[in-house]
Amino acid sequence: MAETRDEEVSPAIDVFPSSTIAPVSPNIFSGFLEHLGRCIYGGILPSTRTTFPYTPRKPCPEDQFASTPESLLTPEGFRADVLKVLRDELRVPLVRWPGGNFVSSYNWKDGIGPQEERKRRPELAWNGEESNQFGTDEFITWCRVAKIEPYIVLNMGTGTLEDALHWIEYCNGTGDTYYANLRRKNTGRDEPHGVKYWGLGNEVWGEWQVGQQTASAYATKARQWAHAIRLVDPNVILIGCGETGINHWDGVVLDELIDKVEMHSIHLYTGFGPRDRSQTEREYGRTVYGADAADYSIQVCKGLINKARFAKNISKSVKLAFDEYGVWDETVGTPENGLEQFYNFADALAMASWLNVFIRQADVVDIACIAQSVNVISPLITSPTGLFRQTIYWPLYLFSRYMRDGISVHLSVASPKFCGETLPQWISSVKGFPSDLDASAVLYTDPQTKARSLRVAVVNRSETQSYNVPLRVAFETVASEVEVHELWHADVKARNGWGKEHEVSVKTKRENWTGRWSFREHSFTLLVLGLS
Ligand code: AHR
Repeated sequence: MAETRDEEVSPAIDVFPSSTIAPVSPNIFSGFLEHLGRCIYGGILPSTRTTFPYTPRKPCPEDQFASTPESLLTPEGFRADVLKVLRDELRVPLVRWPGGNFVSSYNWKDGIGPQEERKRRPELAWNGEESNQFGTDEFITWCRVAKIEPYIVLNMGTGTLEDALHWIEYCNGTGDTYYANLRRKNTGRDEPHGVKYWGLGNEVWGEWQVGQQTASAYATKARQWAHAIRLVDPNVILIGCGETGINHWDGVVLDELIDKVEMHSIHLYTGFGPRDRSQTEREYGRTVYGADAADYSIQVCKGLINKARFAKNISKSVKLAFDEYGVWDETVGTPENGLEQFYNFADALAMASWLNVFIRQADVVDIACIAQSVNVISPLITSPTGLFRQTIYWPLYLFSRYMRDGISVHLSVASPKFCGETLPQWISSVKGFPSDLDASAVLYTDPQTKARSLRVAVVNRSETQSYNVPLRVAFETVASEVEVHELWHADVKARNGWGKEHEVSVKTKRENWTGRWSFREHSFTLLVLGLS
């Protein structure tokens, strides 16, 4: 397909601060930890050579499995550097654990009690071995240190309802019962773990899943589980297992489960899909426009939610937990290398577009978990003694810092379209050709000073074309100076890595505001505009 553009369109952005969508949920900056590759062992705990049978990607300055000095660990034995970035820089509010595909054959009882007595098990999802050195109590301790809300996914593959009820009793029980007492014994504290968020299985629709089921079989089972779970703990927030939001599975499951869950989980990765054998590099267009699929899936899923609510006359709202999203090229981040993908600049633009989607869809997306938080298709890559921030870290950092705590507001974007090949391909045929300019906006009020500002995030996804764009703010007077955060690199294939940790990073400046902005070709810009 030719990459033609509509040259007739004059790019323009109009923002309507008084036309609000919804407050941005801080939980859209959530994370995900799976027992996969070097996520837990190497990312959260120090590495262990014997844990996984694959080879992490080179180049790394050291043996990936060398021991991490104690001085780099927290008193609890966690990697202090990773924890600090997640807690203090990205301010991750909630983390999903323990998978992912991993959970569908995980026995939580193997991961509690004295560590030296824990059973080492075959790991079926990723063809590894699980040492069980990191289990429920370690996860909760890590969450406490990291000031993060835990979200646990239940095993609906090999796990039984009874196992699940025991797990919830172990975490949340306050009575004089066996599993609540076992937790007290293991942790030495009376206080329950207080896990509010529970997922009813992971990708149960997928043929790669241990325990795959049909939509109706899953929905029947999930209803039964939800009923029983609430008898153990009526205060939990239950998250049903959806597909991508737009599939037959989503409709069936929502129709059946809508009255039993608070949220519906969906997953999507961009840059993920079969690569043409003649291609040696991923194509730019197939990377950067992919988040439009998520935008469309969310819109459709919102309709499916409301249709299901209507059919059962349900007044409560049901929100989306987009609890796995991200940029993943399955031919680069493979099970053999523990899904370690080194991201380039184009991937960072894709990530910025992902975040624009969550801001624009703030009325329905309550949780979004980047997959994953460390080493595995992640913004952070560790060695035994350090870490570097990948290109995709920067949009996440900027959104978390400037777009959180705001109210998402409507904006209208006029932009030339991209008519080349997208991934998934159906974006152009079903949703329509994606726009080069992709934007979202929030209205922020400083809680102390009450000063208001408008934060506008703009990705210019055109590889070659810069756009000088009028940016009009309806019915407001904009301050004379603007704060600008720009992510740009001449080379869309530029990467950060060991020895070039800052090749791609954000530049911040202040400029006079003239009512227009020049968005460079292939750039991400976040403008902070003061309002009087
Ligand atoms: O994040 C990697 C994998 O992608 C997860 O385990 C699974 O849920 C998804 O298919």
